[in-house]
Amino acid sequence: MNDMHDIIEEIKLRNDIVDIISSYIQIKSAGLNYKALCPFHSEKTPSFSISTQKQMYKCFGCGEGGDVINFVMKMENIDFMEALEFLAQRASIEIKKGKISEESKKDINKKQNLYQINLDAARYFFKSMHSLDNSGYNYLKNRGLDDKIIKYFGLGYAKNDWNDLNNYLLQKGYDQQSLIDSGLVIQTKNKKNYINRFKNRVMFPIFDQRGKVIAFGGRVLDDSLPKYLNSSETMLFNKRKNLYGLNFAKKNIKNDTLIIVEGYMDVISLFQYGIKNVVASLGTALTIEQAKLIKKYANKVIVAYDNDEAGINATLKAVEILNGVSLNIKILNLGKSKDPDEYIRAEGLNKFSILLKNSIPLIQFKINILKQKYNLNNDQDRLLFTKNIASVIKNIKSPIEVEYYVNKISKETDISVDAINSEIYGKYYKKDEHKKEFKKKIEEIKIEKNGIEIAEKQIIHIFLNNIKYRNDILMKLDIDDFILKESKEILNYIIKSNELDIITIDKMKKIGISEEYIQDISDINIDSNINLNEIIKTLQKNSLKRKRNYLLKRQHELQRKKENDKNIEASEVDRELLDIAMEIIRLEKEMKNIL
Ligand code: CTP
Ligand code: MN
Repeated sequence: MNDMHDIIEEIKLRNDIVDIISSYIQIKSAGLNYKALCPFHSEKTPSFSISTQKQMYKCFGCGEGGDVINFVMKMENIDFMEALEFLAQRASIEIKKGKISEESKKDINKKQNLYQINLDAARYFFKSMHSLDNSGYNYLKNRGLDDKIIKYFGLGYAKNDWNDLNNYLLQKGYDQQSLIDSGLVIQTKNKKNYINRFKNRVMFPIFDQRGKVIAFGGRVLDDSLPKYLNSSETMLFNKRKNLYGLNFAKKNIKNDTLIIVEGYMDVISLFQYGIKNVVASLGTALTIEQAKLIKKYANKVIVAYDNDEAGINATLKAVEILNGVSLNIKILNLGKSKDPDEYIRAEGLNKFSILLKNSIPLIQFKINILKQKYNLNNDQDRLLFTKNIASVIKNIKSPIEVEYYVNKISKETDISVDAINSEIYGKYYKKDEHKKEFKKKIEEIKIEKNGIEIAEKQIIHIFLNNIKYRNDILMKLDIDDFILKESKEILNYIIKSNELDIITIDKMKKIGISEEYIQDISDINIDSNINLNEIIKTLQKNSLKRKRNYLLKRQHELQRKKENDKNIEASEVDRELLDIAMEIIRLEKEMKNIL
């Protein structure tokens, strides 16, 4: 990797723009993008936007924009080479030329050193596992892990020795203070000795999103306490901001979904069986930072916490936090098993996959809990149950979902549909509400279609004629956001050919754009105070609306099928209906997020 071009690419690859920018300013997720208050000019509403996919940022207020290197240059007030060096160091790539401030250099060096200590320790633990004392290895084998997975997750063993790791790392040339800073070594109470933090434990290296070792978790080999010991919080490790396994899971997102579990062993076990979109919150209550991290990679989450009282309480807290970042939430029911690790080892992959498929929506989970709480044979309890259920159901936004749950609860409890409905709506209960809602939404879209085509043509007009806006548009919109075939073709052409010039009518003809479309585009008058940002938002919103519209139609279709065809598998249809209802809600939330 000598070529400058390669180095730049590598540096950009290893420095996610969202990570970098969010380390300077507060950012807010908005669909696949992020928005923030622009750090380069003063403003009250956010017009600064970051694109995860395109790895670019752009302020629609002051016009500032570029890639991760531009951002660091501007933010640190350094030149290109310095920014490159700054990012290079952060990603442990060595480059020579250029200078950065002594202080940030020091900081970077210190972190680099800690990363290196962790990596050396991980290697040492891994090696120790196969030394004469095999108790760590035997423990992992007994828990059903194979060599391949042990290596993949870099599991190891801290020997039954107070000093070996400390001595080994000292001898490698690290100074004592750094070893203490790393959280791997502690000073004894009398301050005379330095000893290992971890002793006689199997070791789980904890990775950050990029796969660098930032800390360790160590488990005892028997039933003694504490069962798990983690590295202390360090410059590298902040438990609240990390999810165990995310470095692997993010490359294995399936169905726009991440599964969240409590522990190390759950992640590793599931992974070994082929379920790879799993992360662990590591026993702590799920934090808002962790929820945001999930939202960065997926729109749906399945909570698969332990099936004990602590796990259920943790689930109830977690779902509130996950709800707050607009994730579509389901909960896995482990039945009699303690945790996902135990389940998959006892029942195998197929059964676990079925369990995943049967994971229940948040509302159902709440209903189940209420059902357990009350004795439905007792009149007073039934009344209380109905009141409580009504307050849960009141929060559901989709009438289809409401109807579904009301019917279900009625069947399960023998409380009449009318009784539940009047508890929810009082006397305002209207039947067939969802049919009206559907009609209204479809009408809305018909009326808007004309306006959308005009907005789309305006964008294409600007796109073709004003080269300086091209990046803004490409960054905020995807080809799927456009409706007209010709608009898509033009965008496709420009992206593929990397065309930098103005696109002339001749060129458009050459790529096969119809006369009529070309005429329309040429006829468009762009007046000088047209708001590009507003048009872009219109297209973004409409694109979400189209997706929602498609789902509404499918929902309608299924509903009709269910009413007319008695032979269909009702539970399958119900499940699809519910999934659709939840996805519709999510899309509507995303729409609201577009300012
Ligand atoms: N944990 C911790 N400290 C403890 C107990 C638990 O940090 N004293 C964290 C660990 O990350 C652990 C997770 O909480 O993986 C879940 O804890 P628990 O359910 O008790 O452990 P399991 O993962 O089931 O552990 P094992 O299967 O190894 O018994
Ligand atoms: Mn367990």
